Amino acid sequence: KSVAFIGSECFPFVKTGGLGDVMYALPKALVDLNCDVRVLIPNYKCIPYKYKEKMVYRGSFYMDLCSDGRKFYVGIMEYINDGVIYDFIDNEEFFSSGNPYTSIVGDIPKFCYFAKAALAALNYMNWSPDVIHCHDWQAALIPVYVKTVFAPTPVGRAKTILTVHNLRFQGIYNVPTIQYWTNLPYHVFNVDGLGQGNNDANMLKGGLAYADMITTVSHTYANEIQTWEYGEKLDAHLRYHNPKLHGIVNGIDIDIWNPATDEYLASNYDVTNVVSNKVGNKMALQTKLGLDQDHSKFVIGLISRLTDQKGLDLINAVLPEIVDDFTQVVILGTGDKVYEDAFRKFENDYRGNVSSSIMYDEARSHEIYAGVDALLVPSRFEPCGLTQLIAMRYGTVPIVRETGGLKDTVAPYNKNTNDGNGFTFDRYDAGLLLDAINRAKTLYFNNRWCWDEMVQRDMAKDVSWENSAKQYKDLYVDVTK
Ligand code: ADP
Ligand code: GLC
Repeated sequence: KSVAFIGSECFPFVKTGGLGDVMYALPKALVDLNCDVRVLIPNYKCIPYKYKEKMVYRGSFYMDLCSDGRKFYVGIMEYINDGVIYDFIDNEEFFSSGNPYTSIVGDIPKFCYFAKAALAALNYMNWSPDVIHCHDWQAALIPVYVKTVFAPTPVGRAKTILTVHNLRFQGIYNVPTIQYWTNLPYHVFNVDGLGQGNNDANMLKGGLAYADMITTVSHTYANEIQTWEYGEKLDAHLRYHNPKLHGIVNGIDIDIWNPATDEYLASNYDVTNVVSNKVGNKMALQTKLGLDQDHSKFVIGLISRLTDQKGLDLINAVLPEIVDDFTQVVILGTGDKVYEDAFRKFENDYRGNVSSSIMYDEARSHEIYAGVDALLVPSRFEPCGLTQLIAMRYGTVPIVRETGGLKDTVAPYNKNTNDGNGFTFDRYDAGLLLDAINRAKTLYFNNRWCWDEMVQRDMAKDVSWENSAKQYKDLYVDVTK
């Protein structure tokens, strides 16, 4: 099968969260299953020069976009790596800011342009994929374009799959603006398409309506988003489209995330020597972050975008009760100022035992995954979550709330049968988070043998893409039948 992946970010060129990881790792896994894959993303100015340097010019043309008939430049820069072809859509007017996302005012025209330019680029390159696999709201207009203005063109024959990585972000703006930037026929703005109350148009909603198939990144999230609580006001729309909705859990790239070969680590290890070798990373981390040097301490990590989604208010509430003479906390993240400030303050108040790195730093994330004993993921909602998967791969025990993909990937520790992968709690409640952390601490300090067994179970767990990539391939076959 030939598949075009279209989305707004892709590791290692540009990544702000898990979407970037998936856009990198899933195409690679599909190539291993003999799929033909092209990935299309914007050629943002912020893509590092070391990648730009490797891109070759593939062609360019001008296309219509808005209703005023202006012509817009579309350049295609290409880079091939590991059997995956990456096409970067070039346009300085839209992609020249230092960050892939800016404000909704700028992002709406940017991604109206991107969706159309990506399809026009496929036609220009004479490459008509069997399936166009679109990701999140930034690419959600693609199914709409394919079924309308692109229907008579070669790419109009493709089937479309829209994957929802995060239902919170939908790309909503007033109808006249989106109509102007897309020049789509008026009927697509009806209530069963992009239209919603208050004369607003919702790009994700339109994509969900027009896509041949919808997926999201775990089974539990697929069910949750059809409820009022998690549906972000699209639950009824999703229930209506339920027959074409599937949940497939994410994996991670096990070569990039491999403690046995990871070059960022002070001490490499695998499942056979984790118990003796992982601790070298804890000591290196304590030194680097200026924490008290003591490898017998229980070190808890947090690696996260600092937004409401991630359950940070729960962490703020319990942090004073977690930190003690035997326990340290290491935080890495950027995002909302309230959380950034709160974590800076914690570092200040608990000097030596709390470290807050308010930054985005790929290298440091590897050091923390390897150096801590447990990783907190107490999310309010979590479509899949990758940090708990990476943690397990590094023999770091996840402490998670039972929601979305966290529920599907972390089996709760059961002390009677001595199995499970981590510590979990159900209701969104600080007391329950604290309780889960205390259960983890107790096992770590009082029953290290069982703890170490859990670490080894986690490292042996299959968190690769292999299984899920097969499920996607099956969907590609189904949808093109
Ligand atoms: P989300 O996509 O909602 O942010 P995921 O758990 O799916 O959550 O993916 C998060 C990804 O981003 C992981 O690869 C994680 O390691 C990475 N990440 C998050 N914050 C940072 C940071 N401050 N520095 C480096 N990597 C980060
Ligand atoms: C989103 C979700 C996260 C998921 C990621 C990749 O950013 O918040 O849960 O793992 O996409 O699918």
